[in-house]
Amino acid sequence: MKKIVVLLLLCSYISSYAQRNKQIIIQTQSTSLVLTVAKNGRLLQSYFGKRLQSAQDSLFTGGQEMFITAGMETALEPAFRTVHTDGNPSLVLEYVSHETKLTDNNVTETIINLKDPVYPVTVALHIAAYSRENVLKTWSDIKHTEKSAIQLTDYASGMLHFKSEHYWLTQFHGDWAKEMGMEESELTHGIKVLDSKLGARANMYQSPVFFLSLDKPSTETAGDVMAGTLAWTGNFKFAFEIDQRDWLHISAGMNSYASNYSLAPNETFITPAFIYTLSSNGKGEASRNLHRWARNYGVLDGTKPRLTLLNNWEATRMDFDEKQLVTLFDGAVKIGVDLFLLDDGWFGNNFPRNDDKTGLGDWQENAKKLPHGLEYLVQQAKEKGTQFGIWVEPEMVNPKSDLYKQHPDWILKLPNREENYQRNQLILDLTNPQVQDFVYNTVVGMLDKNPGIAYIKWDCNRTMSNTYSPFLKDKQSHLFIEYTRSLYKVLDKIRAKYPHLPVMLCSGGGGRTDYGALKYFTEFWPSDNTDGLERIFIQWGYSYFFPANTIAAHVTNWSKVQSLKFRTDVAMMGKLGYDIKVDGFTEKEVQFTKQAVATYKRLSNVIWQGDLYRIISPYEENRAVLMYVDDAKKKAVLFNYNLNPRYKQILSNVKLQGLNPTKKYRIKEVNLFPDTKSVNPDDNKVLSGEYLMTIGLNLAAGKLQPLTSNVYEITEE
Ligand code: GLA
Repeated sequence: MKKIVVLLLLCSYISSYAQRNKQIIIQTQSTSLVLTVAKNGRLLQSYFGKRLQSAQDSLFTGGQEMFITAGMETALEPAFRTVHTDGNPSLVLEYVSHETKLTDNNVTETIINLKDPVYPVTVALHIAAYSRENVLKTWSDIKHTEKSAIQLTDYASGMLHFKSEHYWLTQFHGDWAKEMGMEESELTHGIKVLDSKLGARANMYQSPVFFLSLDKPSTETAGDVMAGTLAWTGNFKFAFEIDQRDWLHISAGMNSYASNYSLAPNETFITPAFIYTLSSNGKGEASRNLHRWARNYGVLDGTKPRLTLLNNWEATRMDFDEKQLVTLFDGAVKIGVDLFLLDDGWFGNNFPRNDDKTGLGDWQENAKKLPHGLEYLVQQAKEKGTQFGIWVEPEMVNPKSDLYKQHPDWILKLPNREENYQRNQLILDLTNPQVQDFVYNTVVGMLDKNPGIAYIKWDCNRTMSNTYSPFLKDKQSHLFIEYTRSLYKVLDKIRAKYPHLPVMLCSGGGGRTDYGALKYFTEFWPSDNTDGLERIFIQWGYSYFFPANTIAAHVTNWSKVQSLKFRTDVAMMGKLGYDIKVDGFTEKEVQFTKQAVATYKRLSNVIWQGDLYRIISPYEENRAVLMYVDDAKKKAVLFNYNLNPRYKQILSNVKLQGLNPTKKYRIKEVNLFPDTKSVNPDDNKVLSGEYLMTIGLNLAAGKLQPLTSNVYEITEE
């Protein structure tokens, strides 16, 4: 008997010891994340960095608490803070169990179950590891069984901890028409926060993306750097806190600003995904990791082709009619793009949408402009040999609309204060299921009625201000979170019916650019600014986190001085489209554009699916050079943009990247304007990958002019 008791005690000691010293190893091809269960049951991040060859053998004992909780011994910025039913504002998370599932031969998902030893609160922490892409994705499910609701006042999706002498943060900030400006600075002690509190059009100023370089600023090809982003189409917050021992703690998640969440018993609160990658070879590799992940897992139909298009916004604004539109279809056919996209201004009858003051919410064709409805336009497009797409902004309402008059309780606005307008509009209360149905029926009704509609541009032209939800009543602090969740609910429902329809995510330019939304969208509109020079910087910024097939880039007349060739070459580095009056083109411009579209179609697979190498940054030199290389390293496309070269400026050779040194490649300048020839001395030459990557190409031959550009097709011989 005694023996049995001793044995049982020993077994339970061994199992609790094993439990307490448990290691959870999460790996991708080049990254390891090692978590350990400490003696007190807390989950620690023991290692996060370059993949360890023998992570299993390594005995990590210490580390930083993976999720810092508020109310106990640590006063750092918490990942989680809860206030229990009895008013107790503390949380402890102890390891209970974990499991690892292989979702496919590339993805493993580890679920770690944590619980408070005193209160019935549990957190299931999910970490998905994408092996080939070297990307990790983390989110949590929070639940409890207290007798009534508990308050969640902080709820990060993930935390990471670093120890280094210096930390360099790269952020992307801007405004309407100047999105994604890159800024890099050294972090100091204390907290630096990148966030949005705008609710809708949440990324108008700050995009939910960052780089964190360790020790010194990373370059494109060197340095330890992490890239992170949050898959959430709403308020986000990244906090970077350096403590007194020089540890850096990063927490990433929804912004808890004005958003205390009362969580009912047994309700599950799911945080959005924090997506990140590590590179020891600089930012270029980090971007390529994210691009691959995005195409394979993050973006709707990321590995499928995209449609080139002609949009009418810059060309006509809201001043058009059916007859004129049908003539514009000819332009799309003439230049060879796949689709005509009808923008804003086609709807509203009692309040016709002739400018941005009226009509939003009344999604019926304007009988004066479109007497035969959308059906006729779809039909006409088909007859002319093109496809038809349409703009909607279904989350919004103008006070001058039938919708506003019929449903004043469907609108986000403070009941006892003046309405606050941006672009003369208000936001619908999407948290209300009736409004969700309205938005769903608007979009799906239109698609059902016009099965030929081949594309949608989904806009969102204002941020939240003076916001109050009539539907949420005493739960106003749920508004920011519920709005985004409701948007996803509607999108899920639309996608269940129309799983593959290409839809562009637009938000008054680049006000919505995140992987939460891109699950439902095939591409996004980066900026209303389509000036070629500005677009080089804007698209450069987005290229750090998003693949080229998601970055819509249109040739327009925004710039009155840049050549059509320059503007076209800039748009070709992304997802090419046009927003211009084709009948205003000269004959040569038509000839050039037709050929440019054909060239783009020939090369688009390399641009959309290839690996991106940013070679010379416009932030560092008076030019920008980048290239895409296909998987097999058989074909590459090189873009060269001269910004403002100085008189007799000597520019060094450009060493290409990503090619196979042992292969031979033919260099061919393409996309030349009619009657012009390449002045590149290497044009049409066959050179080895080694030569191209060690000696490089002279891209500055001849007399360099500002705002000029070249596109080279590089093909294995
Ligand atoms: C926003 C978009 C534009 C255009 C207009 C239409 O500003 O960014 O591209 O669609 O709305 O009103």
